[in-house]
Amino acid sequence: MAQVHSNKSLKSIFGITLMAAALGLTACSTATESDSSPDIQARQDSMKNWGDAMGVMGDMAKAPDTFDADVVKEQAAFLAEDSSMPWSHFENQEDMGNATEAVWSNADGFRAEADNFQKVTAELSAAAQTATSMDDIKPAFSQVGASCKSCHTDFRAKDE
Ligand code: HEC
Repeated sequence: MAQVHSNKSLKSIFGITLMAAALGLTACSTATESDSSPDIQARQDSMKNWGDAMGVMGDMAKAPDTFDADVVKEQAAFLAEDSSMPWSHFENQEDMGNATEAVWSNADGFRAEADNFQKVTAELSAAAQTATSMDDIKPAFSQVGASCKSCHTDFRAKDE
């Protein structure tokens, strides 16, 4: 519970950085102060796992001959399934973590970003089910990456 930033999270951050290079995302690389509550923990755990999943697919995007249909199906399905998970863990504004105030002051905007994320991950997962190459999922994959980035722009505290 108490240990927040292990090597595992470093690894996932590295994965995201690779993906960021592939997609032109700005890197997601904040380390949290460990003012952790169970809610913060739960939503950050989800996000880290998303980062790992995106990293796996991002690596394939960079090296298309490593495309593995089963892995892509699994990672995309995981994102779609988990995409509704974190949002209920943003109820208490005292549990700010690395969220910005906008999560609460612009709750509709945040909800819209979360809804869009659920939509684009469902599309990615649908595309992944029949994909035979990275090209088949690239457009949907880019949409998901754009969704991460778009939400982080307003609703996640900056690294600097
Ligand atoms: C609807 C908004 C939203 C979407 C969509 C979103 N995030 Fe986040 N993300 C956040 C917020 C807010 C935080 C800060 C959470 C906190 O510190 O409690 C965060 C934090 C993170 C973190 C840091 C976790 C940690 O341990 O501190 C990572 C990594 C991350 N997001 C990756 C992703 C990836 C990858 C995607 C897309 C696949 C994504 N996020 C989609 C809002 C979003």
